[in-house]
Order: sequence, then C-alpha cells, then structure tokens
Amino acid sequence: MQNKHQLITTSDGSHTLFHEALNETYHSKNGALQESLHVFIQNGLVNYLSKNNIKAIHIFEVGFGTGLNAILTLKEAMNRNKKIKYTCLEAFPLSIDTINQLNYLEEESAILKSLFDKMHQCNWNEWVEINEHFSIYKMENKLELTSTNELLQISNPFNIIYFDAFAPDKQPELWTTTIFKTIFAAMNNGSLLVTYSAKGDVKRALREVGFIVKRLAGPIGKRHMLCADKANSL
Ligand SMILES: C[S@@+](CC[C@H](N)C(=O)[O-])C[C@H]1O[C@@H](n2cnc3c(N)ncnc32)[C@H](O)[C@@H]1O
Repeated sequence: MQNKHQLITTSDGSHTLFHEALNETYHSKNGALQESLHVFIQNGLVNYLSKNNIKAIHIFEVGFGTGLNAILTLKEAMNRNKKIKYTCLEAFPLSIDTINQLNYLEEESAILKSLFDKMHQCNWNEWVEINEHFSIYKMENKLELTSTNELLQISNPFNIIYFDAFAPDKQPELWTTTIFKTIFAAMNNGSLLVTYSAKGDVKRALREVGFIVKRLAGPIGKRHMLCADKANSL
C-alpha cells in the first residue's frame, strides 16, 4: 500500500492524516481527538475499568498510526494510577517528520509531549518502558500475517482491544472472522473489543466468532460504534 499522506484539521481542531492511495482519513473528520476519546478511551478503557478494578491492564491496538490512542491511554493510566502494557500493530509506520507535525498535545504538559516523543522514537519489536505507568511493544507487521501465538508470546492475554483498522469498505480483508478469531483467542475472558465501525457485516463477523456485540452511541458525526465482549461464560 502506497504511503503518502496529507495533514488535515478535523472539526474539533485536532489533526488527522489523509491517506491518498486509500482515499481515507486516519480518524473521523468530525474530530480526531473526540473520536479517540469516545470510542477507545471512554467506551474501551474507562468502560473496562468501571467493571474490573485491576491495576495491570494489557491492551492490543490494531493500527498504531499517529499514536493518538496510545498517548491518550498513557495519560489515562497516569491519571488513574494504572500500569498498562500496550501492544500495537502497524504495517506502515509513519515517519518522525509526519508525527512532528501533529498538534495533539498543544494544550498538554511538556512531560506528556516528551512521553509522546519517546513513544514514537523507541525501537520497534521490543518492549519499551515509557514511564512507570505505560510500556509499549510496537509490532511492525500486517494484521493478516499475525497469529494468536505471536501475540501471546509478546503479551499476556489482552483485557482490551482497540480495533482501529481503516474502514471495512477500504480494507475488507482486515474485518473478517479469520482475523477476529485470531484476536479472540488472544483475549482474556471478560475482556472487550471496541471499534468505531458499526457496520452490519462487522457485527455479524464478531458474533460468529463468539463475541457478545453491543451497539453503543457513536462519537460526534456517527450514530453508532461497537463494543464486543468476550463474556466470562464463553
Ligand atoms: C485508522 S488508522 C489508525 C489510526 C491510529 N489508531 C491513530 O490513533 O492514529 C489505520 C492504521 O492501520 C494501519 N494498517 C493498514 N493496513 C494494515 C495491516 N494490514 N496490518 C496492520 N496495520 C495496518 C495503517 O497504516 C494505519 O496506521
């Protein structure tokens, strides 16, 4: 996949990237920051923590991209005094020049900015401690070539999955039962997967694999999103 991007400003003032070859943005044009906060932080991390009062959490993100979900997760881990081990997958890492143009942390502390830089500058394919609350393993690979075993060699079974691939109509090969099975098998019972897509085909594929799928209110500009539970009883 050709990797040429344009920087664009979304409705809430935060940046995203436009992927020219796919004709697709990395986040919602209605607000990259509000989408990330709503789908992944509130309905993923905060939702999970409201039901599971544990200190150490394992997260897997599909599509590391700009690192927006990762830095918001790190911030939440600091605020809530949690310890997060964050495994993320990316087939086409962005250049540091591209990352340096993003305005996500304009209103944040110098400390958070330096942690964002550290997260982007650290090595791929190894665990790196970013601070006492957050360690990251940036895995450079394609989702469709990644097995459950590989994931479980890197991490404990996951508590939360941030499924943030490009949209199903752009990359249908990433939203299949085969892929969801791989991820499902790497999850703890009682864990959850969140994604911004609420497409019928996605819902059906998740259910086929064994998830209990709920449609939640979407971020601004989108009616719904999905939250899929790997229930305790399964
Ligand atoms: C919607 S964007 C993710 C946005 C990202 N979570 C962020 O906060 O910036 C989708 C990401 O998936 C990556 N990607 C595309 N094809 C992939 C594949 N086959 N396997 C893994 N990642 C892929 C893209 O390069 C892109 O970074």
